[in-house]
Amino acid sequence: MSLFVGYRCPACGAELDRTVAPRYRCERCGAEALDVVLDYEAIAACCSPTTIAERRDRSLWRYAELLPVGPPPADSGPLQDVGGTPLYAAPRAAARLGLGRLWLKDDGRLPTGSLKDRASAIVAVRALELGVDRVIAASTGNAGVAIAALAGAAGLSPVVLVPENAPPAKIAQLLVFGAELALVRGNYDDAFALSRQASQELGWYCRNTAYNPFTAEGKKTVAFEICEQLTARLGTAQPDRWRAPDRIYVSVGDGNIIAGLHKGLKDLLALQWIPKMPRLFGVQAEGSAAIAHAFAAGSETIEPVTAETVADSIAADRPADGLRALRAATQTGGAYLTVSDEAIIEAIGQLGRDATVFAEPAAAAAYAGLQQHAAEGAIEKDELVVAIITGNGLKDVGAAQRATGSAPVIDPTIAELRRVIC
Ligand SMILES: Cc1ncc(COP(=O)(O)O)c(C=O)c1O
Ligand SMILES: [Zn+2]
Repeated sequence: MSLFVGYRCPACGAELDRTVAPRYRCERCGAEALDVVLDYEAIAACCSPTTIAERRDRSLWRYAELLPVGPPPADSGPLQDVGGTPLYAAPRAAARLGLGRLWLKDDGRLPTGSLKDRASAIVAVRALELGVDRVIAASTGNAGVAIAALAGAAGLSPVVLVPENAPPAKIAQLLVFGAELALVRGNYDDAFALSRQASQELGWYCRNTAYNPFTAEGKKTVAFEICEQLTARLGTAQPDRWRAPDRIYVSVGDGNIIAGLHKGLKDLLALQWIPKMPRLFGVQAEGSAAIAHAFAAGSETIEPVTAETVADSIAADRPADGLRALRAATQTGGAYLTVSDEAIIEAIGQLGRDATVFAEPAAAAAYAGLQQHAAEGAIEKDELVVAIITGNGLKDVGAAQRATGSAPVIDPTIAELRRVIC
């Protein structure tokens, strides 16, 4: 059942109806990154936190009434299984940071190893509903991998464009999942522009982050899981309600994850399933900080940058979802912060040692931002803090090796072992 009724333009406020054909932009002002509008009254009439708690499906499809597409087809393998990632209490990491209550949401555990699976699952089912068979996406890597796997699982033909310098593990994943893949000479923005043109001229359904309004609808499910899982672990404060954290830290490139997270929380607040809106903190790499610059300037105009960072997944010259991403912080009393590449690399090691979570650089950036705030004393001890780990460390082992250094090589003798391990 889908209680999706139409779209709203975040730039001009226009209400747009639910068309049969794909809709990518506002017909009044031309803006992209449209909000999907749901019928909250109808949702509240047919489900609640209590009824959802009774469902055995651990995947994101357990939130069926809050999703703009119907269920995935039977026997579509991983497409039916996206979501349900662990939310860990992280007491050792909290102690090191001087925090009272820290939880880590490990979305590196999704089928292809990144939070992008949530968006691609929704887009793949939407493509089936539209009756298209070819889906195109431009990606820094993860979104492409996700649509390659999940559109493939739905029996569709994914076409993926990534920058030629995408990390080898992501290129390998793309090829293994059978994407029709082209490595574009240029950066992510060049691949993005080409995929949009291909979609317009060749009629392929475009999954591009934010350009396709359904990506944020998939990403919002991380908010549902965080609130439901915190409630399961900590108990309900009020009957038939979920808990909400005080703060959530998340890495930001194009801004679609934080926009989706915000949308999910807005859904829950509109339904009165959570008591308050958490403060959202977007973390960008210093060398790719277009949204953070706008936040610091107190402006809604996002000036492009020439992005340069070790965290390839959050390198974005012109963030595709900049406006909504900015508002996710400004409308929740949150903020944007920037972290250096060194801090990102360092955070990979800290996360592994203190919390047993293996993050790729773009994911570790959120933790580096949290470390920065904790060191500044910006977080009260009694605050309930969540950091989302958006991608698996196996995606970029070179970066992980920079974080850890190498291990000694020894002859197979006890003397040698004792020499290196005392
Ligand atoms: C692992 C990881 N973290 C964070 C992000 C940032 O998401 P967004 O570009 O929507 O801000 C991405 C996007 O590719 C990603 O792959
Ligand atoms: Zn508009």
